[in-house]
Amino acid sequence: MIFNKSQSKFCNFAASKQSHRMALDIRIDRTKNSRIDSIDFDNLSFGKVFSDHMLVCEYKNGAWQNPTIQPYGPMSLNPAAKIFHYGQSIFEGMKAYKDSDGNVLLFRPDENWQRLNKSASRLMMPEIPEEIFMEGLETLLKLDSDWIPTADGSSLYIRPFMFASGEGFHASPADEYTLVIATAPSGAYFSGKVKVSIEEKYARAANGGVGFAKAGGNYAAQFYPTQLAIEKGYQQVIWTDDNTHQFIEEAGAMNVFIRINDTLLTSPTSDRILDGVTRKSIIQIAEDNGIPVEVRKISVGEVVEAAKTGALKEIFGAGTAAVISPIAGFGYQGTDYDLPELETSYASKLKKTITDIQTNKSEDPYGWRVNVS
Ligand code: COI
Repeated sequence: MIFNKSQSKFCNFAASKQSHRMALDIRIDRTKNSRIDSIDFDNLSFGKVFSDHMLVCEYKNGAWQNPTIQPYGPMSLNPAAKIFHYGQSIFEGMKAYKDSDGNVLLFRPDENWQRLNKSASRLMMPEIPEEIFMEGLETLLKLDSDWIPTADGSSLYIRPFMFASGEGFHASPADEYTLVIATAPSGAYFSGKVKVSIEEKYARAANGGVGFAKAGGNYAAQFYPTQLAIEKGYQQVIWTDDNTHQFIEEAGAMNVFIRINDTLLTSPTSDRILDGVTRKSIIQIAEDNGIPVEVRKISVGEVVEAAKTGALKEIFGAGTAAVISPIAGFGYQGTDYDLPELETSYASKLKKTITDIQTNKSEDPYGWRVNVS
């Protein structure tokens, strides 16, 4: 079965499940040497050990080929593959959970598929048909379901990614691409307190650029300024706008939320800011729980002023990997500001609500949880 680019469509996973069921012929090559017994599932770090299998699907001659699920391991690429030269590489981050009945659960997977395709379009890469993404992922998760950890705070982190495997030194889009979905049983993304530095010089994204996309290069560009912040005693950077550095945009590899008095603020999405799945879920949950939410530009000045008067209650990052990561304090223009330690913070309340939905410990009034068992 070959999938042409035109067959790719945006629609709801559940609604289209029946129609795409029969279409895909996924070849499965099972490992003969499972590594699962060597994994300490009670002491997992983030993204360091990988499950037995991965999905690989190639795009060539203008069409997606049949995917294969094969043992996780090295892949062979020609040195002229364009990923190495021009950085055509995009990814997603998702998580699978297993509930107490053994059901395998995903959280809003259609959002990740749609965003991967938005990233693909911006990077001149082919869109991925829903069948390949969803059915491929579901088949992979069924095969490696024993790799889904169940300890509190752990999950199977899913990393779908696509890169230019077509060759050539000409600075133009490749003619061949490879989609891979690999998974990693993982624990918490951060450990310990996170202090951040508000960035005054560097930017992670610019107007008209690729900041809204999950392009690998966006993250590579963060490493140097983040290292400078680490050398000054911080763990992460709060990114500000590239033009004036007066407005807060993101926190590390996450969206950012700021609580001033009882109001929760977050920056509007734009071509510089990622349309985070956790971000949009938090906005919805907060609003439904009577928390005033303002999606608007947030000036560094108002945050510093609020820190001085005590009106600044919380700052937290939000993303798939960490879910919600509270920030203990920030540095700006040579001064450090500590945030209060609250007994009942918005961060802890919202994190519990969202993870309870994800892990089937509570009702899901939104229909976000998808059972793929
Ligand atoms: C996520 O939260 O999944 C992210 O994209 C962060 C990632 C760089 C680990």
